[in-house]
Amino acid sequence: MTLPPEAEQSIARLLRKRAADPWSPEALALPQPARRSEEDEAALVQYLVDFQQIERMAGAMFGAMAERVNHAPLRDLLCAFVEDEARHAGALRRLEVLHNQRRLRVYEPTPSLVRLGERLAAWIRLAPPEAAAVGVTVGEIAFDIAYLGPLEVFAEDPATATVLARIHRDEARHLALDHLLLDLAPLLEGPELGVRGTARYLWAWVRVLEAGFPFMRDTFFGTSGQLDPEGQRLREAARRIELAMDREAVRRRPVALLYEGMQRSFEAPLVGDLVRRVFAKILRADPDVFRRQTTAKERASARQRTAGEAAEAVIAEFSREARISLGP
Ligand SMILES: [Fe+2]
Ligand SMILES: [Fe+2]
Repeated sequence: MTLPPEAEQSIARLLRKRAADPWSPEALALPQPARRSEEDEAALVQYLVDFQQIERMAGAMFGAMAERVNHAPLRDLLCAFVEDEARHAGALRRLEVLHNQRRLRVYEPTPSLVRLGERLAAWIRLAPPEAAAVGVTVGEIAFDIAYLGPLEVFAEDPATATVLARIHRDEARHLALDHLLLDLAPLLEGPELGVRGTARYLWAWVRVLEAGFPFMRDTFFGTSGQLDPEGQRLREAARRIELAMDREAVRRRPVALLYEGMQRSFEAPLVGDLVRRVFAKILRADPDVFRRQTTAKERASARQRTAGEAAEAVIAEFSREARISLGP
């Protein structure tokens, strides 16, 4: 498979950047955090256990993409990201041990999240590359920005800040590749989708929604609401998803049109407010999250970017944020 020269360069650059930034969870110096209330300790440890599951889920998604890619550097990068997600899980496991001071109970990953991970892994194997790229991008933006981002403020301890700084640096590269994959998806090989294949794929998607819905309602919006009561991070994640879906190479694909249709229904005169409230009620979320978060001007300028420029912009924006919130 041949990719446009610009994409080849971006992939080579991401491989170099990653190789120049090695780290391992075992080698991180993590000071013992201060004792917190029982309630906070239990919430934080549960959150850390769940996030390890999310990291494993992200690793499985990159692994499934790597299996179908017929381009050595891109496959190497995807495999390197599988390792990244494993080290994120390892670092979060260390935080879990540090924070689990009273051993109040046995912590297990939330069952709806485990189910969602299993079903996503089944879905991505059947999904056309364009849908798989959107799934991975939306998942990474939502989890990294809306779910992992506010943890630092909530946990407020140097060990968590150290781990998050490392994870954010890796994730900036992941998000850059996610944006590249969005553009490159039509060039990637997908599974053969006959009538049966399409039916299986759609059924797998229904199963993802069935598992995803209770997780979003009970855990995702609940926890992010606790960690980020103003909803700033959630809105930021929604903003970035909007910009990603509006990219020139993406915006006319069925999945982007579906997303746009959903957004239009949220913005529709008279009924938009009602639709947003119904969604917010069902998902127990702030109705504002379902409003458009970007201006036409912002979308137009993001749309002009090439895949390489979008990837670089994501790295610059994401690492600048990480520096602001995490120190130099
Ligand atoms: Fe990660
Ligand atoms: Fe990631």
